[in-house]
Amino acid sequence: MKTERIGYHAFRDRVMTADEAARLVKNKETIATSGFGAGGTPKAVTRAIAAMAKELHAQGEPFALRLFTGASTMTDVDGVLADADAVSFRLPYMSDPTMRKKINTGSIAYVDTHLSRVAPWARMGFFGKVDVAIVEAALIRTDGGIIPTFAIGNAQTWLHLADKVIIEINTWHTPEIEGLHDIWNTSSSDAAATLAQISTPGMRVGQTALHVDPDKIAAIVFTHEAEQSISFREEPDAAIIAGHIIDFLQNEVARGRLPRTLPPLQSGVGNIANAVMGGLANAPFENLTAYTEVIQDGMLDMLRSGKMTAISGAAFYLSPASADFVNEHMHSLRDKIVLRPQEISNNPSVVRSMNAITMNAAIEVDIYGNVNSTRVAGSRVQNGIGGSGDFSRSAMLSIFMTPSIAKNRAISSIVPMASHVDHINQDVQVVVTEQGVADLRGLCARDRARQIITHCAHPDYRPLLLDYMQRAERQPGGDTPHILSEALSWHQRLLETGTMMPR
Ligand code: COA
Repeated sequence: MKTERIGYHAFRDRVMTADEAARLVKNKETIATSGFGAGGTPKAVTRAIAAMAKELHAQGEPFALRLFTGASTMTDVDGVLADADAVSFRLPYMSDPTMRKKINTGSIAYVDTHLSRVAPWARMGFFGKVDVAIVEAALIRTDGGIIPTFAIGNAQTWLHLADKVIIEINTWHTPEIEGLHDIWNTSSSDAAATLAQISTPGMRVGQTALHVDPDKIAAIVFTHEAEQSISFREEPDAAIIAGHIIDFLQNEVARGRLPRTLPPLQSGVGNIANAVMGGLANAPFENLTAYTEVIQDGMLDMLRSGKMTAISGAAFYLSPASADFVNEHMHSLRDKIVLRPQEISNNPSVVRSMNAITMNAAIEVDIYGNVNSTRVAGSRVQNGIGGSGDFSRSAMLSIFMTPSIAKNRAISSIVPMASHVDHINQDVQVVVTEQGVADLRGLCARDRARQIITHCAHPDYRPLLLDYMQRAERQPGGDTPHILSEALSWHQRLLETGTMMPR
């Protein structure tokens, strides 16, 4: 019986359909959803809101919402709502193509901010009022505690701030998921002391359930849907980059700079990050741990093989087979995996205290090591900064990786000057492309440039970068030589001719 998933009996008369729940949301309101990436987002209610928006628009009625989430939400939230023109404002990270297009054309206002900052800043009121929280749950306990699913995101903060709450109970998730999450009151006076107790990735300091004022529960909707899943591409460049990173880490171990267990690892989103984890599975490291944001297949596989012993994360980001595996083996996995609210999973003070190694992808890197993770040609947002800043600035070893070229060689990912900077060169210790590894630690700006050009640039673009660097060095002044009239000319040429390569 589905209603058995509602242990708190007083809530049972609040069950309704997704369409009925959708009608609780009014034009211009702010909805704030649970979830993060592919995991833990509502599905039926947001789809019903999108359908309602389309109907209202067909009748000539306005309907657009402000949408807050944990991070990207894929089709069932971002995709359907953007497609229905039902969003006027979006916070914080997104990766849906329709949402991206509308943000880039200016029809949706977008605030791109560090993921660990969203909840604290929302509590301080920087983003305005939250009208309706929509939270996916596996079940509601007899004490009213809400057990989240494959991610928490900012759900606890949304439940606290919202006037009304809609809970979507997704019976696809096993009830055994209770015990996976570690949740505590991050706005309490002893929050800093509690945070400081997290000294290892597997450590738990809180409770297993989200808490909400029972009077706020306006609707409970049942669904039975697998989590949206990811398909990972096997790209040759990703495997080569993974190989370079593993060689680099092995060398650090051999030189006595890192232990064989390595410090806790953070791994970013996407194919390359997944491939790095896949490569680590066969590398001679033991008893690895992760303090990370998303848990992708590669990391899960290491846990399954015993190579990794504990993972702290914000969310699962899995292929269908791995998602099924997690659901079916939750009872044993929840001893080794902790899902935390994103302000804790990504908390810079914990990352720093653990001396973490962070590995994130870049769109472009300039010759001095400044990294652009978010804006193509300086102005078109790809996804957002996500957690990359939360982790990289506080890392003991911050690695950024990218293929050296994009769009069939039309673009060099190594450029004279980054067209937008998310990670300043001081936060970037190692750059890796399929060409090789630039170890920038301890180097002055000019030597950083030589390392990056020599080891990371694609051979088609390397002579052009060397030529730029040599001419820039002949200009008067500056420890970081540039020819300002030329520094962004590669991007300008791309916009004008479709390629960074001079004709
Ligand atoms: N110039 C223009 N476009 C570029 C580019 C460049 N230098 N480098 C890559 N691209 C394009 C790719 O061609 C691709 O385009 P498409 O969507 O049209 O296919 C797109 O950017 C994504 O690149 P891809 O190579 O598929 O990489 P990815 O999926 O691994 O994503 C980031 C790379 C940087 C966009 C992604 O990692 C990201 O959003 N990072 C920021 C957030 C983050 O790091 N989160 C993890 C923290 S825990």
